[in-house]
Amino acid sequence: MEDQRDDLWEETNSQIEALAKSEPEKIRLLLESPIETMNPTDLFFRGLVLDSRRQYKGAREARDLALERSYSPEQRASMSDQMQFVRRQMVGSPGPVVDLASGMGSLLEVLLPGADQHFVATDLSPRVLMRDQAVFGEITRGRGMSYLAFDARHTPFADGSVPTMVTYLGLANVRDPGGLMKELRRVVSGELLAINLFYPERRGPNTDAIRQLKLEALMYRKSALRQFREAGFKVKVENSQNVLSRPTPKGEILEGAETDSLPVADTFVEWCTLVAS
Ligand SMILES: C[S@@+](CC[C@H](N)C(=O)[O-])C[C@H]1O[C@@H](n2cnc3c(N)ncnc32)[C@H](O)[C@@H]1O
Repeated sequence: MEDQRDDLWEETNSQIEALAKSEPEKIRLLLESPIETMNPTDLFFRGLVLDSRRQYKGAREARDLALERSYSPEQRASMSDQMQFVRRQMVGSPGPVVDLASGMGSLLEVLLPGADQHFVATDLSPRVLMRDQAVFGEITRGRGMSYLAFDARHTPFADGSVPTMVTYLGLANVRDPGGLMKELRRVVSGELLAINLFYPERRGPNTDAIRQLKLEALMYRKSALRQFREAGFKVKVENSQNVLSRPTPKGEILEGAETDSLPVADTFVEWCTLVAS
């Protein structure tokens, strides 16, 4: 299972590489500190460093613990429940299935076992896809999986050529989405199943941060549904759950490092799956 971390993988990894050169001691501490005592943000970065060194088992362990320490049981249950909802919804859906903004593939991890369809993992970052290829190679042995790096706002697909598209927080992570929904309408011929979260619109620190991050279009219920409809989708909000969400702590070894840019203050967010066709 994955979380709502929205940094560009590419950007974060470049920062880690720079740090390894300028402050190798920090990387050593990140890798050698006892896992039991580490803060979740440091653990998440430890996972990234291990991933970049192809130590996937250790990376997994660090990331699982980071997730457990970053999010409440209710949050984790809701994230997982949305993925299971998509899994059930997808039974019998035509392939290939394009997973938009796959990141480290938490949704793929849930959907791949037992699925008949061919999957296409996609992301803006070629580097995260290379990592996914190494990690998912075993699960997809025999039937294969495709990996395509592109910006979700300008996909390489022909009109109506994607029978099924899924995404776990992919829409919410596209900054300045502009014509994103029109582009998805252009390429999806069947169903789009998008796990998303909506923030309350009442003015406060979270709405300010959302504006600064240029995420307003798809982070609020009303505006997101309007974007879907204006692009020509029929859309339903399914499996809606309101869950208390708290800011994740900043790094201690990597002083001030952040994983999630939202929320910046405690708030109830609506987790849901948007079913569009
Ligand atoms: C945190 S991941 C989302 C979780 C992921 N879907 C999963 O199942 O684990 C967010 C991803 O969105 C990608 N991303 C951000 N902007 C994008 C864009 N314009 N086009 C495609 N991918 C984008 C980032 O590179 C990052 O890997």
